Formats: sequence, structure tokens, C-alpha cells
Amino acid sequence: MSSVVDVRRDGDIAVVTIDNPPVNALGHAVRSGLHAAMRELRDDASVKAVVLAGAGRTFPAGADITEFGNPLQPPGLGEVIEQIEAMPKPVIAALHGTPLGGGFELALGCHWRVAAKGTRPGLPEVKLGILPGAGGTQRLPRLIGPVEALPIIVGGEPIPAERALQLGAIDEIAEGDVIEAAIAFARRVLAEKRPIVRVSEREDKIAAARADRSAFEAAAAEATARTRGLEAPVACAKAVGFAIDLPFAEGLKREHALFLDLVKSDQSKAQRHLFFAEREAAKVADMPKDTKPRPVVRAAVIGAGTMGGGISMCFANAGIPVTIVDATEEALQRGLGTIEKNYGISVSRGRMSADDLTARMGLISGTTDMTAVADADIIIEAVFEEMEVKRDIFGRLDRIAKPSAVLATNTSYLDVNEIARATGRPGSVLGMHFFSPANVMKLLEIVRGKATEPEVLATAIDVARKLKKVPVVVGVCFGFVGNRMLRARSLESERLLLEGASPAQVDRALTDFGFPMGPFAMIDLAGLDIGWRIRKAMGPTADGGPAPIADQLCEMGRFGQKTGRGFYIYEKGARGGTPDPEVAALIERTAADMGIVRREISDEEIVERLIYPMISEGAKILDEGIAQRPGDIDIVWVNGYGFPVRLGGPMHWADTVGLAHIRDRLRHWAQFNPALQPAPLLERLADEGRGFASLRTGRDKAA
Ligand code: CAA
Repeated sequence: MSSVVDVRRDGDIAVVTIDNPPVNALGHAVRSGLHAAMRELRDDASVKAVVLAGAGRTFPAGADITEFGNPLQPPGLGEVIEQIEAMPKPVIAALHGTPLGGGFELALGCHWRVAAKGTRPGLPEVKLGILPGAGGTQRLPRLIGPVEALPIIVGGEPIPAERALQLGAIDEIAEGDVIEAAIAFARRVLAEKRPIVRVSEREDKIAAARADRSAFEAAAAEATARTRGLEAPVACAKAVGFAIDLPFAEGLKREHALFLDLVKSDQSKAQRHLFFAEREAAKVADMPKDTKPRPVVRAAVIGAGTMGGGISMCFANAGIPVTIVDATEEALQRGLGTIEKNYGISVSRGRMSADDLTARMGLISGTTDMTAVADADIIIEAVFEEMEVKRDIFGRLDRIAKPSAVLATNTSYLDVNEIARATGRPGSVLGMHFFSPANVMKLLEIVRGKATEPEVLATAIDVARKLKKVPVVVGVCFGFVGNRMLRARSLESERLLLEGASPAQVDRALTDFGFPMGPFAMIDLAGLDIGWRIRKAMGPTADGGPAPIADQLCEMGRFGQKTGRGFYIYEKGARGGTPDPEVAALIERTAADMGIVRREISDEEIVERLIYPMISEGAKILDEGIAQRPGDIDIVWVNGYGFPVRLGGPMHWADTVGLAHIRDRLRHWAQFNPALQPAPLLERLADEGRGFASLRTGRDKAA
């Protein structure tokens, strides 16, 4: 008997349980174990029906992604599923947890599906840059209809059990133990002598689409409308189309061919890299294994501004009561009003019910009395970026907060160690850098100070997960990982203007590259005054400076979208900005004053001069140990700054391009700007013919 596939008997019913922790991934051992077990059960006359289940936390959550880079060892998953479907006796899947990808495809090969309450089946392959390659694109449309199957396959989001039942993707939701319910279901099927249902043989749900493809075409166009250069969603829709147009066996062949193309594509490699990097990023190499997070029952946020309000919403959304403190009643009421308005927008868009709004607002309380944070387990300071203000707050928190409280600052740039020193408990202090809007953006940089205790770090990571964020642990430096690399890009983007590019050309080159927005549209949205104030307070080299163009625009009162003018002009009601001849003239004048002769700049040069310096900065960040792994940097940039997913983040993309090429190009551009000299680590890896991936450890290499 296989060590990962167990078979037991309940009378004349065999219960086959897959036991391959943590998520019962369908690796080679499971596939061969299943294959052997099914062959035996098929031939065993004393077995009348089979229940197929997963041990532990879930029915299989998919193929084993770590096997993807290597040649597949038989039997393939598709073969095992076909074997199960062909069984001459009823096979009932007992689903619980997250039957995803190949796991759900396995269930689709069974003749009936019973699910525990709370089960969330789905086909998330598209998020790994592939498609369900074990018959999922052919069976699901036959089971629930192609129009209904499309969003599940193209979107990749799991669906709640209730919805799956409604669609006919499962047959029953079990009240109690799912295996017992599946055994009872099997006995009913046998007693009623129900004919076996093989999904591959069903034609009823695709008949309508076969007669008239228009509804399917419309749904496919909608599902693939915003794919941002990703190939997999388009391939997924195409494969569902095969289910309509082709006999099952032919559709299966075409699905498999598409799968094989996708799995070896750079896009899928990038997306698989991101899957593992995201899981790796919250792990801290030198944290003792037995470190336990402290319980967090109550939270407090200092500052009711945009960030403080957004962070408070995150806590309320996670069901954690939160107290917001602000210095004045007026600021507090304004902040609470904004939160309620934001929730109201969600209600009006149907994303939330009015009851939810009441419940969430009920979890948020406001006060101007700092002593109200005394019973909070975590306190996040989100006031404006001034060291003295922050130090004053942390000094006061030190006197008020309970001894076990985690004290976090939401600073974007400032020295967390210096803030920690304002308290008598620097071990309890760290940074939790949220991104704006905090209630929407996934990324959370968790900034570990010199003195931060492991338990405090573990608590911040745990809280991040509860808030449904993607945490990345980083070290202390100016701007941490994200903003420090952004600074390298900002510096160069102003230089490109002076040397001959226009804001619109720079922005277009980066949106063509795959960013949702270019640097000048982004700074217009965020407000030019923020960086200007920092540069005025800290010297011209702070926050992406020197920035002669941005500084002059600010002096003219052009702070971006909020003043209707920045790098662009914003007409009332228009979504985007239009180029402004006044800005073009300002750029030309400034260049002439600085003795710079403007010239034609190509889009290729823009990409090289904006992205390669970021990669070089990333190499310095790795060398200094500010980020633990190249993948951590990728997670920061994909989740916080819109770096295109299909390229896998700046460091992964750098490996795809080749570090020697990047080094050579940076050396070339350094003739124009000596700051562009490649970082020593980049030089070294390029000389040795290595990539950043060679610095990674452990299992994520497999991606
Ligand atoms: N293969 C290999 N390892 C996997 C895996 C998979 N399919 N799914 C999860 N893991 C690993 C994770 O990397 C993680 O490992 P570490 O603890 O070493 O970091 C561990 O299992 C636990 O995963 P999570 O930390 O993500 O646990 P969670 O409880 O937060 O989430 C989950 C569980 C929802 C199943 C989530 O892991 C997930 O979404 N997994 C991927 C599901 C997926 O994409 N399946 C489709 C695979 S492709 C496929 O099946 C192709 C096909 O058609 C044949």
C-alpha cells in the first residue's frame, strides 16, 4: 500500500484517502498510489462503491507545482482521472477545504461530489500562468455549462460550496462529517441503482452553446477583456471553446497541448516564481522555529488621516475592534466620516450589505484621548512623516501601552531604530508600512528594527495575514525596499525629461512595459507636494531628488490632480491628464539652463534607464541584507507598485533578460549619469554567469 494513499473499508464501500501534507498535492507518489488503489478496487468484487477523500486540512489543492519544471513521471494526472471516471462502480468525491486545480479536476472525474460546509472548490491554474490541464476545461463546461464555467476557469477564483451546489458542480453539502456523508450518498446510489454519471459523456449542458455560440462569445470577450498581456486567460477561454466545438477526447488533446505550451512559457515561470516567493517572503531565516505570535484581540491606530483610516478599515474588515486616536475632535470626525463614506461606496456598488457597514463601523471607535490605547494588543502609528512627532508619540505610547503590546510605525522612509529608541522597549517596536489605499493594497512591508524581538515580528506577520495582506519582512534603510527602489527610478525619470523625453513618452513607455501607470501620472495622482516638502526639509537629494522639474511645478502651485495641474493638465471630469505645453517649455528652459542638450530618446532607452537602476538598487538591498531574498523584492514590486505579474517582478525579470546584459547597459548609461554604475553584487553575479535566482535557497528554486 502506498504511504500517501490509504484504503479502508466500510462494509462494501472502500474509502480511499490521500494523505500528503500539507495540502495533499497530487505529486508522483499520490498519482501512482491512486492508480494502484483504483485498479485493485475495480477488480475487487466485494467493493461496490468507492469514496475518495483527502486527509488533514483539504481535499487535494492541485498538482504538485514543484514538479512543473521537470519531465512528468507517469502516470499523469489526466490518466488517473480517466481511470477513475471509467470505474464500473460508483466513485464519490468527499470534498473539504480547498479542492483546487488538479484536485477539483480529480473530483470532476468522480461520478458524484459531496462537500463539507465551507468547502471552496476552484480552478486557479490561470494564476500560475497555465490552464487546468487534466480535463478541467472540458469537464466543467459539460457539468455546469460553458458560460458558467468560463469565469471560474478564466478568473481562477474559488467558489463557495453553496454556489457550487447551485451551479451543479457538486451534488450535496454535508451537514456533518463529509466522509460519512459520502458513504451514505454511495449507499443511496447503490440502493436506488442510479446509473453512473460520467461528466465526459454529458452533452446536455453544452447543447445550447453548440446551437448558438453568441452568449459564450460575449462571456469570453468579457472574461478576457482585462488580461494585461497575460496569455493564460486567453488560452483558458479558448480551451473552454474546445468543449463546445469538439468531441471530448479531441478537446482533451487540445487542452493538453495548450497546457504544455503554457507550462514552459516565461509567463508561467514568472507566475510560479511569484506563488512561492509570496509564501517565502513572510518567513524569517533566523527566527527560532518555535516563535509564537502574541494574541491580538484589540487594535489601535494613531492618526485618523488617509492612512490611519485605511488601516483601521483593514482591522474592522478582519473583525478586530480598533480604536482610532487623533489629536483633535475635528480631525477624528473627518476621518471617521471618510471611513463611513468609503464603506458606503462599497454598499452602493453591491460589494457589501448595509448590515455589514453597521457591523464594521461598530468595530471602529474614535477618541482624542491617547490613554484609550492602554488595552490594545497592537498599536499602529500613522501620523505624518516627521521624526520628532513620531518620537513624541512613541514616548507617550511607551507610558500608556500594556507591556505585551506591539508598537508599530507606518513610516515610509524614517529610521525605525530611532523611533524605537524613543521608548524604553525597543524590542516591541517595528515598522508596518502599508500602501495607499491601505484597505485595498495587498502589500505590507514589515520593517524589522535592530532590537525587534522575534515574538513581536511573528505577531506583525500573523496580523498581516489576518488582515489578508501579503507581508514581506525587510530591514531598516531609507525607503525600505519599495520606496528605495522607486527613488532610483524617480531620479532617472526627471533626468530623461531634461535629456529629451516628454512626461507622456516616459509614461507610455512604462505602461507599454506593463505598469498600470507611468511615473508622472503616478506622482500627479499621489501629489507632487509630498516629495517637495520632504526635499525641502531634508535636502534636495531626499525622496527621489534632485527633482528640478517637480520642484518648479510645486512652486507654481501645480501639485498634481488635486490642483488640476501637475505634469499634466486635468480637465474637470476627465480621468486622465493631457500634456501641457507650459510644462514642455519649462522642461526645455531648465535643460538649457543646466547646459543639457536635448536629443531624441527611444522607448527602449526609457525602459532601460528606469528599470535597470531599480534592479541595481535591488542588488544593493540584497547585499546589505535589507531584503532576505530576491523573491521578496519581486513580491514588493508586484503587490505594491504594479510591476507586471507576467514578468515575475524586477529581480526575476532581470534573470530572464540576463545580468551580463543589464550590467553592460548600466555601464553604458553611467557615461551620462555616474550614479548608474552597476551595484557590486550585480557585477559579481554577471561576471560569474549567475542570476539572482542562484542566491535563493530551498524549494522556491523549483519554480
Ligand atoms: N503544490 C506544491 N506545494 C503547494 C501547493 C501545490 N499545489 N499548494 C500549496 N503548496 C505548499 C505551499 O507552498 C506551502 O508550503 P510551505 O509551507 O513550505 O511554504 C504549503 O503548501 C501551504 O500552503 P499555504 O501557505 O499557501 O497555505 P494556505 O492554507 O494559506 O493555502 C491553498 C492553501 C489555498 C491550497 C494555497 O496553498 C494555494 O492556493 N495553493 C495553490 C493551489 C493551486 O494553484 N492549485 C493548482 C495547481 S496547478 C494544477 O493543479 C494543474 C493541473 O491542472 C494539473
